Amino acid sequence: MTMMNDNVVMRFSGKPVTYHFNGSLSGLAEVTDSTRTVIVTDRHLMEAHAAGFDGWRTIVLEPGEEHKVQSTVDGIIRRLIEWQVDRSFTLVGIGGGVVTDITGYTASVYMRGLRFGFVPSSLLAMVDASIGGKNGIDVGPYKNMVGVIRQPSFLLYDFDLLETLPDTEWSNGFAEIIKHACIRDLTAFRLLEHHDLESLRKKPDTLRSLIRRNALLKSRIVRRDEFEKGERRLLNFGHTLGHALETSYVLSHGQAVALGMVAACRISEGQTGFAHTTRVAKVLSQYGLPVEGSFDPDRIMSVLRMDKKRVSQAMNYILLERIGRGIVQPIPLDDLEARIRSLAAAGPALLPIETHP
Ligand SMILES: NC(=O)c1ccc[n+]([C@@H]2O[C@H](COP(=O)([O-])OP(=O)(O)OC[C@H]3O[C@@H](n4cnc5c(N)ncnc54)[C@H](O)[C@@H]3O)[C@@H](O)[C@H]2O)c1
Repeated sequence: MTMMNDNVVMRFSGKPVTYHFNGSLSGLAEVTDSTRTVIVTDRHLMEAHAAGFDGWRTIVLEPGEEHKVQSTVDGIIRRLIEWQVDRSFTLVGIGGGVVTDITGYTASVYMRGLRFGFVPSSLLAMVDASIGGKNGIDVGPYKNMVGVIRQPSFLLYDFDLLETLPDTEWSNGFAEIIKHACIRDLTAFRLLEHHDLESLRKKPDTLRSLIRRNALLKSRIVRRDEFEKGERRLLNFGHTLGHALETSYVLSHGQAVALGMVAACRISEGQTGFAHTTRVAKVLSQYGLPVEGSFDPDRIMSVLRMDKKRVSQAMNYILLERIGRGIVQPIPLDDLEARIRSLAAAGPALLPIETHP
């Protein structure tokens, strides 16, 4: 199928990455040589889009975060050796963030580096996980503990893949879209305010252009700060408390980040005079995300003290000055603890992980 090109090339430390925004899985052979490509995907994608993989050498992983580990990488590497894959090959990850992270990491270490590309298939992978060059795996309870920063050669967007994305995954993607809007994009925030999850899913053109806008917004932030010395840290908005909640309570990543964003808005009220927490919370609710939940502050503080953004006795926290303008501010740990304690009792109790069967 021939579609009008909508290709954008972004350079990261001089390396070009081509975004094919009007791509399609059936047109993959136009961006990578099928005789010298190995696809990595997961079983859900293979089951839902089997025809798209016809004629391609494909490694099919079991889906799920628990498989984003070294033993999965070892399995892929053994298969690459068996197939005599050399450095003239390209590895293509077709899937959500788990598949793209594993593929980018494996491609970066196999033979000290193969060319690789992604076909992101979840909303979250389209706007976030496949962008920016961070590729990693988990080690026990530690998420993304091992990895590299290395950019893909291309990203191919096939929006039709979203037709089979499970309902629960949509909110996870929207949490990151709302995050991008809060830190850098007032126009997108207004668009989100005027829609909700259901109405946007019924407007594919609006949704596509929102995804495209988000992908480019994250890319520009990363391009200006590839190795996270400054502006890229804004992308952690909602993620400091979010990660702590996600490791302790039964929450999806998007739900945890949503709670983290509301908390960051409340902390911003005291630090920057931010005055729009209610607006942010309303938008999160419109996209199926929670805005309050009570938690054990001692448990959360003990996780926060281990956060990579802690520097000595202060935490670099991502706050909002206004919608569309995020900033990084160090908050003394004692002050942060007081804020976290004041937020801990809001809403219904979150379910701790160990009580969940
Ligand atoms: N590298 C980065 O910068 C970065 C950024 C954010 C998140 N991540 C990582 O991304 C991962 C989360 O990504 P995710 O939310 O995409 O999760 P995921 O990859 O687990 O996908 C979610 C589920 O949806 C299924 N799925 C995906 N696309 C589908 C489709 N089109 N049709 C049917 N089923 C589909 C998957 O099989 C899986 O079961 C985490 O491991 C996280 O650490 C990485």
